[in-house]
Amino acid sequence: TERTLSIIKPDATRRNLTGKINAKFEDAGLRIIAQKRIQLTKAQAGEFYKVHAERPFFDELTTFMASEPVVVQVLEGESAIAKNREVMGATNPAEAEAGTIRAEFAESVGENSVHGSDAPETAKEEISFFFSGLELVG
Ligand code: GTP
Ligand code: MG
Repeated sequence: TERTLSIIKPDATRRNLTGKINAKFEDAGLRIIAQKRIQLTKAQAGEFYKVHAERPFFDELTTFMASEPVVVQVLEGESAIAKNREVMGATNPAEAEAGTIRAEFAESVGENSVHGSDAPETAKEEISFFFSGLELVG
């Protein structure tokens, strides 16, 4: 079993889609073992997305992520990282497979409703960015 960090982004929390997105995770066999709704500062969003600091969209991305509350969560299950990314769909909703979260809900490549860790090492880092060990009850 594996854990991954998921974020329901501001475009989705604004439209009250948290429950519908969580249902997709649960239907795929992922268990939400930790979850909280927070609002990031722009500096915190920049720290979280620091691998993208040199990208042309960095300012737009961090402004967006700090614009409204997000729901941060830890998903657990077999191959949770890959499974979550499958349920999310491609980064660009125009390229996302039917039935995925991004195909159904995302508004654009930037405002694409969800984030998911991309590898075991980043999952570990991203989970500890938001959660303490005490908050993780598997
Ligand atoms: P995450 O799970 O959020 O990391 O998405 P990803 O792994 O599918 O995409 P990637 O790590 O390449 O990019 C991180 C995030 O940056 C994306 O989810 C988008 O929100 C944003 N992003 C990527 N490309 C663009 C772009 O061309 N324009 C804008 N505005 N945002 C982008
Ligand atoms: Mg990524």
